[in-house]
Amino acid sequence: MKICKAENLFYLVNDQVALIMEEKEGRLFLRHFGGPIASYHHANAMHEMDHAFSPNPRPEDRTFSMDTQRQVLGQVGRGDFRKPSIRINHTNNQVTDFRYVDYQVLDGVPQVVGLPSPHAKEGQAQTLKLQLKDTILDLYLNLYYTLYEGSATLTCFQEVVNQTGETIELATCLSAMLDLPAGAYDVISFQGAYGREKRFQRQALKQGYFEIGSSRGASGHGQTPAIILADRLTQDDAGQAYALQIMYSGNFQAFAQCNQLEEVRLGIGIHPDFLNWRLASGESFSSPVALMTYTFQGLNALSQASQTFILDHIMPPAYSQQLRPILINNWEATYFDFNFDKLTQIVDKAQEVGIELFVLDDGWFGDRQDDQRALGDWVVNESKLGGPLSRLIDYVHDRGMKFGLWIEPEMISQESDLYRQHPDWVIQVPGRSHTYARSQLVLDYANPEVVAYFKELFGDLLSRYAIDYIKWDMNRNITDVGNGTSLSDTLMQPHRHLLGVYDLMAYLTQTFPHVLFESCAGGGGRNDLGVMRYFPQVWVSDNTDAIERLAIQHGHTYLYPTIAMGAHVSAVPNHQMNRTTPLKTRGDVAMTGNLGYELDLCQLSDEELEQVAQQVAFYKTIRPIIQRGQRTRLLDPELFSNDWACQFSYQDQLIVFYGRVLSTLEKSELTLKLKNLDPHAFYQEQSSGKIYSGAELIYAGLTMVVPRGDFQTSLQHFKKIQ
Ligand code: GLA
Repeated sequence: MKICKAENLFYLVNDQVALIMEEKEGRLFLRHFGGPIASYHHANAMHEMDHAFSPNPRPEDRTFSMDTQRQVLGQVGRGDFRKPSIRINHTNNQVTDFRYVDYQVLDGVPQVVGLPSPHAKEGQAQTLKLQLKDTILDLYLNLYYTLYEGSATLTCFQEVVNQTGETIELATCLSAMLDLPAGAYDVISFQGAYGREKRFQRQALKQGYFEIGSSRGASGHGQTPAIILADRLTQDDAGQAYALQIMYSGNFQAFAQCNQLEEVRLGIGIHPDFLNWRLASGESFSSPVALMTYTFQGLNALSQASQTFILDHIMPPAYSQQLRPILINNWEATYFDFNFDKLTQIVDKAQEVGIELFVLDDGWFGDRQDDQRALGDWVVNESKLGGPLSRLIDYVHDRGMKFGLWIEPEMISQESDLYRQHPDWVIQVPGRSHTYARSQLVLDYANPEVVAYFKELFGDLLSRYAIDYIKWDMNRNITDVGNGTSLSDTLMQPHRHLLGVYDLMAYLTQTFPHVLFESCAGGGGRNDLGVMRYFPQVWVSDNTDAIERLAIQHGHTYLYPTIAMGAHVSAVPNHQMNRTTPLKTRGDVAMTGNLGYELDLCQLSDEELEQVAQQVAFYKTIRPIIQRGQRTRLLDPELFSNDWACQFSYQDQLIVFYGRVLSTLEKSELTLKLKNLDPHAFYQEQSSGKIYSGAELIYAGLTMVVPRGDFQTSLQHFKKIQ
């Protein structure tokens, strides 16, 4: 791994990836981002031709234009007409001309104040800091690029320092930008809606823009803050691809712009419509951190590079390999309708079947009898629980299980004591009526008083009670932004709100490191890398239907690790889809994530309870393979929409999951070629005892057989034998 400057070239290169930039007259150009190149000699130089119709800085040289060069940063007004990575409102215009001044190589990963940043062990990461200054203004721009040992992912962010003596406004300050050569590209994104999160979408990129983003105040159910550019021929196991991701949970934008030369600019950052950051002289502003990943070995390799990076450098280190407890959550079992007896009956059954964690969901506090009221009144409802919360916690702990609790710190109900005391704590435009979602309002975390109040309140809750797990929910998006004292103050509110939310997340997770936090936002409404820096687990969707989950879990694990994904078996007919699937199918699908249950175990027959007990016992034997193993896709759902398959490999063991949605007749079963095996070894399937050679599983494949009927799955466990 090295970061160095050789003549005018900056190299960041390890054994996976290289970023090469060139400085010419202070301008910075991107010469390469991709496979590892330790010695570069302009083999891919752009052909210098007359671009008379593009702007040229010198009248006598029409071959050079900012319009046609691959840039390191996109600036406004000097001839680069693509989307900018930096746009600053200053004096009476937006034109900047940042030029290189100096560089530094720093050890480790710089931490962005107030925002989630990656981490690395000593000696694992190095950072190149490029310092630029505008040619006429005392405006400084620092670009940070961090390279990690053995990783195909680099991270970057930019920092603007204002020394102009005047206040300026940042209109755009992206986290990453990449200019790539012309090619036939597809763009991949993850789209969806509430209950239908992270749907893989691949489409051809043509001249013009492809853009995704969020204006919801959260990353949202609809679009994931990530964009992948793949060669048209790239598939799971071959071909090159680039991914940009951002560690941010608020309004974001990601785009691919194919310009008049058919070259592509990729960008990702805070959504420029919601930044408007006022920067007084002497102040600085840092963008969130972005991830840039490259592979030439196909989309499975891209997934692996992203997942490994997240485990090693984003997720709280204590949790990235820590096996997750099998839980039962009472939400779909009882909704708001519970009391001590009902809950303890579920706890008893859960203990019988071997479940390890009981989670008490919404409805335990204040007058929270339904979702119309009491958010904000975080006082235990002892009359509903028939006594103090500690009695229930002790009951659970006495049965050898852990105890978890649901909270929703960012929200408030109008019908609450807190709202009556502090109506001004809500995000709102004074004088206008509120806009509600799930009958609730959003607290203004840009107000430090609000952050301080909840630090104390939830700090006290976690100190007072022996809580092992927290499900942190966030059930609505932001509207009616208007609490600022001036328009410019108000325009800064979405980002300032998020800084306040991150402050609370950082405080609680650092103060109570033994508590496993699971993030939830009406399911996957904020399933992003900003949140994952604090919370190592996500409830990826409120949709618990096993068939819908196939696509959702496929989408989540495309870039994020399996161990970050909660997956529950729920009752049938399914509460969201009204679909009935076999208990085996529900179990198999949930077992490809962190297994949990979310149904009333007391309603199950003895046979069903026995089946649940078997699932739990089986999962305990395969848990390290699923949670710590490498998940590899075996089928591309774009080509096989009725069939889903993936495998998990860990040490000498392998799990193969297969699911067929609808039954088919007169059609051969699929034979799947397994991956990441030793061709010279033998593998034994654990339930049938059958032995196969690694070579035949790789080259001939394994035929998938499931019972006749719709919604069938299989989960096979192989062990390598000597
Ligand atoms: C959201 C969550 C659910 C549940 C409810 C409780 O919808 O996604 O899992 O916790 O809130 O109100």
